[in-house]
Amino acid sequence: MNPAFTELDPHDSDRIDAAFGLRTEAAREDTPGLPAPCRADLIGSVRVPPPATRVEEWLVTADRHTPDAIASLRLEFPTEENTASVTAAVLAVRPGLRRRGIGRKLVEFAGARGKLDGRTWLLLFADAGPGAEDTIPAARFADALGGRTVMTLDHLRLEVCDAPAAGPVPDGYTCRTWGSTVPDELVAEAARLEATLSADAPTGDLDWEPQPAAISRIRAFERMRIARGRRAYQTGIRHEGTGRLVAWSAVSMTTANPDSALQAVTVVDPGHRGRGLGRLVKALNLRYVRGSETELRTIDTWNSTGNVHMRRINEEFGFRPAGGRRMWELDI
Ligand code: ACO
Repeated sequence: MNPAFTELDPHDSDRIDAAFGLRTEAAREDTPGLPAPCRADLIGSVRVPPPATRVEEWLVTADRHTPDAIASLRLEFPTEENTASVTAAVLAVRPGLRRRGIGRKLVEFAGARGKLDGRTWLLLFADAGPGAEDTIPAARFADALGGRTVMTLDHLRLEVCDAPAAGPVPDGYTCRTWGSTVPDELVAEAARLEATLSADAPTGDLDWEPQPAAISRIRAFERMRIARGRRAYQTGIRHEGTGRLVAWSAVSMTTANPDSALQAVTVVDPGHRGRGLGRLVKALNLRYVRGSETELRTIDTWNSTGNVHMRRINEEFGFRPAGGRRMWELDI
């Protein structure tokens, strides 16, 4: 087979349907415990890239004349830092067509696209249910290709009814909530905190440069999230004495899954750690999201296995192990 690769146009609804159908089928097979793919999310992800990233979204068919998708490939090229890498954010073969060499062809193609853009390594990743990290096809595939495991993450899930109620905000601090857009007067502080998180969060053996503190990154991320039909719920804690934002937590939800949310950023300013603000800001934010999202049942989060503090906070909060994510790198 000599697969044909066609770059997806967000206005080509036939090919969007084909890509979405394939991803839905693959998700049912590979990650039945995760929220189902969302069509609005896919369309938005083709229209608006993540901050400081160029995206190539490829639909793969058996040949130029057959419309049916046999695989889906999304490549992300960081444009400001980590510019030696290209990430295969999606690399999926239709379940009934596996073990016929299509996966290898996708990796060859990804490598060729990367090389053309001056990249020297490819980052791959895959999710697995509890205890299945070593046995999923992706792990065998990575072994066969000579991939090196560079990072493992624990998938944790919270049943929201098990979470603790929020305690009082300590003296000297105030709490503020907002939706998908950080208020203008807090955005510089949010950028500062996000850069702290990017620099501090353990990345295992993955050699990943942290992002700079830039308001433009926050705003670009918000544009992407909104374009993907997602909505966010966010809570910040401010230190009254300095006016600084010292803790921030966000969850986001897709259009297709009103019962599940993704835990996004949770970060506490290094100068204010050890005072329970991480747990508090999460509890306050949970109260906030539950006030609007009456169907919400679960929240998913992924923590690097080396991130002992975040994992402890999450477990105390009621998050329970639900699987894992593994990342591999491959020279190209
Ligand atoms: N069991 C054992 N070995 C496997 C398996 C498996 N299930 N799948 C692939 N391999 C190994 C074999 O050595 C195989 O060669 P062989 O068939 O000659 O023995 C080699 O990988 C190449 O296999 P392909 O046929 O090229 O791969 P395939 O088309 O089946 O696609 C893929 C593999 C992409 C992992 C597919 O199973 C899939 O779409 N999985 C779900 C999505 C996913 O997890 N993507 C993760 C991408 S990151 C990553 O895979 C590291």
